[in-house]
Amino acid sequence: MRRYLIAGNWKMNKTARETKSFFEELSSHLTFPTQSEILICPPFTSIPEAHRHLQGSIVLGAQNVHAKASGAFTGEISLSMLTEWNVAYVIVGHSERRTLFGETDACIHEKIKTVLQGRLKPILCVGETLEERQSKQGAFAVIERELANGLKDISAEDMRAVTIAYEPIWAIGTGETATPEIAQEMHHFIRQWLNAHCNTAVAEQVRLLYGGSLKPSNAKELLSKQDIDGGLIGGAALEAKSFAELIRIAEELSH
Ligand code: PGA
Repeated sequence: MRRYLIAGNWKMNKTARETKSFFEELSSHLTFPTQSEILICPPFTSIPEAHRHLQGSIVLGAQNVHAKASGAFTGEISLSMLTEWNVAYVIVGHSERRTLFGETDACIHEKIKTVLQGRLKPILCVGETLEERQSKQGAFAVIERELANGLKDISAEDMRAVTIAYEPIWAIGTGETATPEIAQEMHHFIRQWLNAHCNTAVAEQVRLLYGGSLKPSNAKELLSKQDIDGGLIGGAALEAKSFAELIRIAEELSH
């Protein structure tokens, strides 16, 4: 059985001081240990503060990394800078990185390889725009391309460390959520893709997260779908209370 992963992507929010208050409030809402794995991905500068507050099943993630180990890359962060703070996961290819910062499938693939070589766990984000969903080619073709390019030549062994987040771009930060049926249909498609391109064991093991306006009011319906193993949460992860509520829902469904 796959364990739920409830992941907060804070994006460009929360100073170190705000991070401290968040964790203090979060621990007042939760009883540890939890059955679900809880992941917080703060901005880089708040990672050391978040690290001080890790407990129970809470782990730390980064929102991005550079593919190279070191060098003249002004403004970038390398993998070893993250491992020093016990960062376990790295989000790769978030749609905001793709659209606002010009990250291509090739660059995302390089980052995935770097993260895997460093023995951290990449969370590969895939998702289609509304126009792509409505086009003749459709959403499945977009997701298939992003999976094939992002995960090219990754061994079945390494695939076990990968998490995939399906985040329809039309649902991110818009308040618009994919219906549980739409989300499940795409998650099932991704699992079939893993089955065909790796093997059944990998397809059964890899966790598939849903992202896009996931919040306490819609989490139960989405998380109870067979192929949805957790969430990558933006807005609702910024408030300790709503994030704790999402964890509580996952805990309830784990029983
Ligand atoms: P959202 O963001 O929950 O605010 O829609 C999700 C994400 O971008 O990962």
